[in-house]
Amino acid sequence: MTKNTISDSGKPVRQPLAAKPDISHWDFPLDAPSSEMYLSLLDELQKYFSDIQQDNFFLPGFDAYVGKVISAFRGDAWGLFRVFLDGRVYTASTAASSLNVALVLYLYATTIGWSTQDILLLVRAALLHDVGMLFLPQELLQKEGKLTDKERILLESHPSVSYEMVRRWGEGYEATQVALQHHEEWNGTGYPSGLSGEKIHSWSRVAAVAINFVARVTQRRYRNSLVGYEAMKQLIKDQGVRFDPVAVKDFVRCLGLNPPGSILLLSDGSIARVIEMNTTNVLRPQVRTLIDSFGNVFRDDRGPLQNLTDTPKIFIARPVNFQDLLEAREQQTPG
Ligand SMILES: [Fe+2]
Repeated sequence: MTKNTISDSGKPVRQPLAAKPDISHWDFPLDAPSSEMYLSLLDELQKYFSDIQQDNFFLPGFDAYVGKVISAFRGDAWGLFRVFLDGRVYTASTAASSLNVALVLYLYATTIGWSTQDILLLVRAALLHDVGMLFLPQELLQKEGKLTDKERILLESHPSVSYEMVRRWGEGYEATQVALQHHEEWNGTGYPSGLSGEKIHSWSRVAAVAINFVARVTQRRYRNSLVGYEAMKQLIKDQGVRFDPVAVKDFVRCLGLNPPGSILLLSDGSIARVIEMNTTNVLRPQVRTLIDSFGNVFRDDRGPLQNLTDTPKIFIARPVNFQDLLEAREQQTPG
């Protein structure tokens, strides 16, 4: 079998994958410690949200929870992110979207170099930004299809409710603005006030990008490994229209066009899964090989770890869909 290579001109030699690699037993496992931590953080946030619904919210208890979230993010933010993007640990609750937004904003703020104190306040603001949603009727939240005018007005009231609650709890100015303005859009078409451009608080502009990314990924009940790439592509399309272009640029710098969890075809014909971004070069993330350029399959995440910054001749050819690989597996499985 010939190893696929780069031509002298530097272009990839686009040979097909080495004759039908045997992926009949191939799968990639979900990282167990990351999944457990993700579920534990989510469970606890869900309990706080139930307390808020019953007006039993105890802010000092929540302080300790935020500390736990920050320490989990510090230890394993990319692992938790891969759990979110993968979607096998799936939930579409307000608590889940709030935790996911907090995680994505943590990754953003650490990459951009925010201070420890601001990162803590941003994560806290993200966890609480949607509490107004907790008071909307379930039927409205679960409704599929177009909302009536009355339902839309009710839904669009949630940022003002969030704002009132966050203010009542004595959260800082930035947190109140994130609560109030997280659905405002750069071109003034958002709600509740139709603010535009820099009239929207800078934290709210960044939060809007993270919220949209999380919503786009979460909408996809049965996710494929292109989901992160497609959400990023849409954000780039919407920059300068719905979203602050600087916020989108920084966001892409943080998560890359193919965020961790994405599966890529590399220029040497191998297939690899993105593990972590290299924030100095988003086009060259750390990846784990799933199928090498000889067609060898590595199961159970046992493939070699490769930092694409160390292999300048190998680059990303394109993202691939996990589903396509599974279908290829089915075609190869006898009977
Ligand atoms: Fe919201």
